Amino acid sequence: NSKTFSLNDHFLWGGAVAAHQLEGAWNVDGKGISIADVMTQGANGVERKITDGVLDGENYPNHEAIDFYHLYPEDIKLFAEMGFKCFRTSIAWSRIFPQGDEDLPNEAGLKFYDDLFDTCLKYGIKPVITLSHFEMPYHLVQVYGGWRNRKMIGFFTKFARVVFERYKDKVEYWMTFNEINNQTSYDMTFSLFTNSGILAKTGEDPEKLMYQAGHYETVASALAVQIGHQINPNFKIGAMIAMIPIYPASSKPADIFKAEKAMQIRYWFADVQVNGRYPDWLVKYQQNHHFDLDITLADLDVLKSGPVDYLGFSYYMSASVAASESDEPEYGYKENHKFVKNPYLAASDWGWQIDPQGLRYAMNWLNDRYHLPQFIVENGLGAIDQLEDDQTIHDAYRIDYLREHIRQMELAVAYDGINLIGYTPWGCIDLVSAGTGQMDKRYGFIYVDKNDAGHSTLKRYKKDSFYWYKKVIQSNGRDL
Ligand code: BG6
Repeated sequence: NSKTFSLNDHFLWGGAVAAHQLEGAWNVDGKGISIADVMTQGANGVERKITDGVLDGENYPNHEAIDFYHLYPEDIKLFAEMGFKCFRTSIAWSRIFPQGDEDLPNEAGLKFYDDLFDTCLKYGIKPVITLSHFEMPYHLVQVYGGWRNRKMIGFFTKFARVVFERYKDKVEYWMTFNEINNQTSYDMTFSLFTNSGILAKTGEDPEKLMYQAGHYETVASALAVQIGHQINPNFKIGAMIAMIPIYPASSKPADIFKAEKAMQIRYWFADVQVNGRYPDWLVKYQQNHHFDLDITLADLDVLKSGPVDYLGFSYYMSASVAASESDEPEYGYKENHKFVKNPYLAASDWGWQIDPQGLRYAMNWLNDRYHLPQFIVENGLGAIDQLEDDQTIHDAYRIDYLREHIRQMELAVAYDGINLIGYTPWGCIDLVSAGTGQMDKRYGFIYVDKNDAGHSTLKRYKKDSFYWYKKVIQSNGRDL
């Protein structure tokens, strides 16, 4: 219904990527080794290995990725052809501070992002920048143990200050930590490592490590918000959470309460980043579990004075939980262990449950809780694509997925009053999957000719979805 349609003319249509998943050039122009550089290629259902440094004979897909570092001028031109208004990427921390604890930044790294942002701006594309997207300098893991160490706050804020200063006239939208709440699945090695550079040692409690790292990160995020606003009061600095609404598996009251607890646990990071304080349940939970965390009164003041300006989030799927008798009385929740299949939803080949209406639900839930402008900074379908002999790619399944999600997003704006800044589908050009390290799990509008078996020309081809998304942007979301 066009009467109730209400995306405004400044709506930020675009696409999203992360430095380590597409740049490649892992050891070029002074870049240090990052945590992404020590992760091997996995497969569907096969975890990536984390090696002790970069080892001979291992396959590290992020080292070359799609070589965006050298090929970006052509890629940005293709984004411009689709009509992008913005482009979300991250700054590789390890290009700016190769080890993480140096006094002075690496000029060559800073220069690369100057050139990249200038290229975007030339086409009227606003860069939207994540400071930390699964890519801290590996040296900080080796020497300081990652975010289990309070010193990380200083290293991170120094990095933030340097890039805020440098790009203050080129970048307006920032996010501090990508999917900061992924690490609620702390019993998966991948999550604690990619979020926080932490590898739990024997005898360490990964749950406690998650709460400690999360505390230091939310403090660092609040400090970054303050520093950023001092440098440029027009900066919009957001949180970035992985939004997976968790539904009760049934209308049984215990299931409903279980889902409530699961949501509390998944979203406490955003509670702290937005509200500037710990939620009551969490204070109690941490006391009851005797975590004995390093949280100072000064930290709590910092949290209060650095709330984020907007809420960035990714949305791919929903999940469901069921309670069991052993949940009494705490109804604690361990991510992934208790997810049950939702009989009403189909799933991707990687088992991600497809739930467009869940996006509208999520936007409402987030708005009721946080009352902030929202920015959907990731959404998309990871799928196997076929490059045909005539160099076309018919990805109707991707168009269907995105169309249904955009519909729901537009309903949330038109009927639920959500203040939505923009929409940047994930992996607008094919890139290395974070979860599996695969190239074959593709999200892009642009196909990159490289696969898991080792074939690679790195040539770019437009998929059917490229032309479709161009039309969506041109019509400001009316022509789906
Ligand atoms: C999010 C991340 O988890 O989802 C991205 O922010 C990631 O880095 C994306 O690539 C899709 O996940 P995957 O595992 O399919 O690459």
